[in-house]
Amino acid sequence: MLKGFSESKKGGNLWAVRFIDLSRGYSRYGPEIEEAVCRVLRSTRYILGPEVSALEAELAQFVGVPQAIGVSSGTDALLLIFKALDLPPGSKVLTPSFTFVATAEALRRAGLRPYFVDIDPRTFNLSPKAVEEALRRLSDEVSAVLAVSLFGLPADFEALEPLAEEYGVVLVEDACQSLGGELAGRRSGSFGRAAATSFFPAKPLGGAGDGGMVFTRDEDLARRVRALRVHGQTRNYYYEYSGINGRLDELQAAILRVKLHYFEEELRLREKVAKRYCELLKGLPEITLPYIPEGYRSAWAQFTIRAEGRDDLKAWLAEKGIPTMVYYPLPLHLQPVFQDLGFGEGSLPETERAAREVLSLPMHPYLREEEQAFIVETIREFYRR
Ligand SMILES: Cc1ncc(COP(=O)(O)O)c(C=O)c1O
Repeated sequence: MLKGFSESKKGGNLWAVRFIDLSRGYSRYGPEIEEAVCRVLRSTRYILGPEVSALEAELAQFVGVPQAIGVSSGTDALLLIFKALDLPPGSKVLTPSFTFVATAEALRRAGLRPYFVDIDPRTFNLSPKAVEEALRRLSDEVSAVLAVSLFGLPADFEALEPLAEEYGVVLVEDACQSLGGELAGRRSGSFGRAAATSFFPAKPLGGAGDGGMVFTRDEDLARRVRALRVHGQTRNYYYEYSGINGRLDELQAAILRVKLHYFEEELRLREKVAKRYCELLKGLPEITLPYIPEGYRSAWAQFTIRAEGRDDLKAWLAEKGIPTMVYYPLPLHLQPVFQDLGFGEGSLPETERAAREVLSLPMHPYLREEEQAFIVETIREFYRR
């Protein structure tokens, strides 16, 4: 007999499994965050002050690159990178369709043309084989590859870096979900010419609102991104580029610096949660577990399985008080907004299959053993019916 957390009472509180429970982290470091927020408020230094500079230095060191630039969101981080790269207007950028909309949206806003490429069905990340095929076929029309490190797992940069080099295109990492992920000892955020990450609250390193960061080794690119985030200004009231207002707030930076202290530990806790899911879900033929190739470390932004009868399972779990998410139900190439790009149904078979089969289970560093046991038992019960 299953005991539904959503139905049982503990200490008078209704228990419910949350998809991401930020309150558990906050109960650990809330007082430190509140102190940091008060420090900024009292300082009256709210825009591009010492907190942003300190966070930039700390995260540059964490990622292992010399330059980090705090910006207003992950979306703006991508936009600023592509504005700063100044690629030929209208040129094609190879990118996955199985990603959050901001990936392709940023390319468009930078005057470029997203060209969707299929994924590796095991990792959900860009298939290097499909990238190579597109590079060969489209040759001069392509100026860049924007690879997404989805669900926390770095894309296959060991294959993508030499490909970008061989074909003379720029490689950029969308690391919005993967801060803390690693590949062969290198951290996500350090791949390609530049990388963008996001501090959206639900991300592995999440703030209390919007925020993002650009990482790069390229000093000149960093200088342009720094100018572009303040309207293209290179000295006081002198504008060299057409920029945006794209700064990271001091308040967000101060909050993120507190959370950064706990980040390594939270990454390990996420790994523990993921490992436990894998153990508990073992032997269920209807489920395909996440695949982490040798030499990779995931930041476990999501724990995403493939599930037979996905929609019915999702409804069953919801009924039992277990929230799940489908990232992503409709791939970008089939979204109304990208219809003009000419990718019809059937053009990216692995992407479309993933959209039909994936299901993300509750995942955060503080998910409890008994909650996971309840989730998995409820999944098992669904397939036993
Ligand atoms: C893959 C990907 N790219 C870009 C973004 C955009 O980040 P933000 O929400 O901070 O603008 C997100 C997150 O929302 C994302 O998951």
